[in-house]
Amino acid sequence: MKSSDIREKFFDFFKSKGHKIVSSAPMVIKNDPTLMFTNAGMNQFKEFFLGNTKSDSPRIANTQKCLRVSGKHNDLEEVGIDTYHHTFFEMLGNWSFGDYFKKDAINWAWELLTEVYGIDPSKIYVTIFEGDKKDNLQKDQEAYDYWRKILPENRILLGSKKDNFWEMGDQGPCGPCTEIHVDIRPDEEKKIISGSNLVNKDHPQVIELWNIVFIEYNSMANSSLVKLRVKHVDTGMGFERLCMVLQNKTSNYDTDIFKGIISEIENKTKKIYGKDVKTDRAIRVISDHVRTVCFSIADGQLPSNIGAGYVIRRILRRAIRYGYTFLELKRPFIFSLLKIISKELGRVFPEIEKQLALAEKVIKEEEISFLNTLDQGLILLDELIKNSKNNILLGDEVFQLYDTYGFPKDLTALIAREKRYSIDDLGFEKAMKAQKNRSRSASSVSFNDWNEVINIENSIFIGYDELKSQVKIVKYREVSSSKSGNYYQIILNRTPFYPEGGGQAGDKGIIITHNGERISIEDTIKENNLIIHISKKLPTEIKGELTAIVDLQIRLDSAKNHTATHLMHQALREVLGKHIEQKGSMVNSLIFRFDFSHFSKISNIELNAIEDFVNDKISKKISLVENRKVPIKKAFLSGAIGLFGEKYGDYVRTIKYGDSHELCGGIHVQNTSDIWRFKITSESSVASGVRRIEAITGTEVLKHFNHQEKVINKISSLFNQPQDIIKSLNTMIDENVNLKKELDSLNKMKLALLKKSLVEQIEVSDEIDFIIKEVDLSPKLLKDLLFEIGFRKTNLFMLLATVYDNKPYISCYISKELSEKKVLKAGEIVKKLAHLIEGAGGGQSFYASAGGKNINGVTKVIIKARDLIINWK
Ligand code: SER
Repeated sequence: MKSSDIREKFFDFFKSKGHKIVSSAPMVIKNDPTLMFTNAGMNQFKEFFLGNTKSDSPRIANTQKCLRVSGKHNDLEEVGIDTYHHTFFEMLGNWSFGDYFKKDAINWAWELLTEVYGIDPSKIYVTIFEGDKKDNLQKDQEAYDYWRKILPENRILLGSKKDNFWEMGDQGPCGPCTEIHVDIRPDEEKKIISGSNLVNKDHPQVIELWNIVFIEYNSMANSSLVKLRVKHVDTGMGFERLCMVLQNKTSNYDTDIFKGIISEIENKTKKIYGKDVKTDRAIRVISDHVRTVCFSIADGQLPSNIGAGYVIRRILRRAIRYGYTFLELKRPFIFSLLKIISKELGRVFPEIEKQLALAEKVIKEEEISFLNTLDQGLILLDELIKNSKNNILLGDEVFQLYDTYGFPKDLTALIAREKRYSIDDLGFEKAMKAQKNRSRSASSVSFNDWNEVINIENSIFIGYDELKSQVKIVKYREVSSSKSGNYYQIILNRTPFYPEGGGQAGDKGIIITHNGERISIEDTIKENNLIIHISKKLPTEIKGELTAIVDLQIRLDSAKNHTATHLMHQALREVLGKHIEQKGSMVNSLIFRFDFSHFSKISNIELNAIEDFVNDKISKKISLVENRKVPIKKAFLSGAIGLFGEKYGDYVRTIKYGDSHELCGGIHVQNTSDIWRFKITSESSVASGVRRIEAITGTEVLKHFNHQEKVINKISSLFNQPQDIIKSLNTMIDENVNLKKELDSLNKMKLALLKKSLVEQIEVSDEIDFIIKEVDLSPKLLKDLLFEIGFRKTNLFMLLATVYDNKPYISCYISKELSEKKVLKAGEIVKKLAHLIEGAGGGQSFYASAGGKNINGVTKVIIKARDLIINWK
């Protein structure tokens, strides 16, 4: 069965059981501080499990793009080493939100696997939760009983909390799970040892296929478990593993999912998969990692130096490094594998096809730059090896190579070993731990449990229409953060505060209690669809009505900037071309930033055209047309633009100003003329193929113009208020050029005269010809003079001092032969003299210089230098 058919059959099966099939959420998570990447199919449904929102459909199924490389579920180190772990993988899942529970979940899983996919029932083992005394949890007897109706006793195994209790993080919804495992070993092996002894023992052919979680609890801050009001089912089946089983293979990498990528790697590297352990491992690493990086870029997360971007960069570097070392290909090639991925998966995940050109370009640039780093790392490593004692490289140094140059430890160890050196592993781990502790303590946050004030299901946002509202506190909790101190998160039953989202900063403002107490709201954010107000204080009176008031000025200024991003987006597509796609944005009340795909620097002419376009839309006074609940298909059909990597619901809000038409949940002005004016303040590159424009609007533009005017007035007054200041500036520039020319020729003459006079004054002391003098020259000319005289002499010591710009400088030159004959070193002499001018300096044996602070020391330098040379032995 082809992998595409396996996926389709899964959808068809769950459709027949009343499930709605939804799209995969983006793999990169944007508004959940606890998670960078989707690591399970259930992530996008967290808000339903937490009870923050109610799902429109109680039964859902899909295939979800997942990445497990950081945090609680981390498979990175296994990947490539074995044949069934991945960083990126598809997770097939079905969910019940307060609908069916253990019986249907178990029976349907069995029906799909054995009847639809035809897996031999004798290959299947299942595990159920055995209970846990410490947490006072009972054995999952209910799940056991359902399985007993299907399977004999000896194929239902008991599992501990570690394997059979699923938690998505340290806090939050969780519950017991039942796992389905398959034993695909040959019969001879099965006779020797039963599969029941190999379940959950990391055997590559006795593997977990499907995890069915029964979400019944909420895990609290103190680790206690509280029963949820409504129970849910959350299942996840590894698609690549399922394909392996159904295609009768023993490795995920032998399925049709990886076939195309692997044969392309073979083509490019002229290596064959399946012949050599190290080559195979490298091919597996690359074919896994290239999918991860490709999907990440398509979802808008490019490799970078921070956060999620850094995780992606490290994965890509791991792949590049494996190619470099084990496939011996020292030029970029990973980017060229993307066409295959796009061809094979573009139908299920259209974002891959759409973002192909950008992803190829970004990966290629990363490859070029890291291959260079690898080369540089090798030079550095050579130096470390030369300087190391006892044939051991220090852990700190190996760590620095890893941390600063991205040079992996295992590669360092490998190269060191080739040269019969080893590395100090313990020292490396210590340095690594120290760094982790530093970053952990810089960002540690702990959350107390929510204190419920009133029992309400949904809290609603009313801020599109109201800026001042009567509200009540639903719940609150205290947060301790090492960075921001202690603060409170407050949830209101209805709120006019816009939570940070879609690039726009959250609202600030106040809430006022009925007895006049004012609590400042410093920020508003959204997590799992819950609007959270951040405040340093709680009102003394928690219960009862409060008045919530949004800071109007900040809100208006942010709205101006947000609308300007839409107009600028339109301008970019008009001026630069339709290939422009938004890659990120940040909007607050002072400034906005807009990142977009474009491959070259934007010229001043283009920037002016973009400014003119936006200012023209402003002056045309275009009114906002806002639609709050448009079916997503209809929105796209009517030409609205969405953002790749954004999770949209079935209904969306659209924002339209004339031809600018976007899907957007942000705050906007009623009419473009409210923006007053738009001005670009900078244009730069943020990553390969991605440019950034920063701009301002409204009063910030006024401030900008006022500042510019002041600068111009200042210049004008420096020129005595000329009629035409540009003309005056040009005249000054021309004069400067001429003066420079004159100065150069005068300096040449001065140098020639000085040179002649110095040569005439050469003194001799015990076979040393020497010149020690104070002269009147710039430090640069001083050096030129020393070299001009020095090059023609073989036995000369020269020390010249000068005072320039009220600072003393000394320079010393010693002919090579003299330096060797008399063991005279310019660097050492300068070091001995520099303190007399309160300075420091140094250099090589034939030339050295120093600058200082005390001009009175110059005479002392001359006297001391003469003394040194005359008494030199
Ligand atoms: N959340 C569970 C898992 O990831 C089942 O989907 O294994």
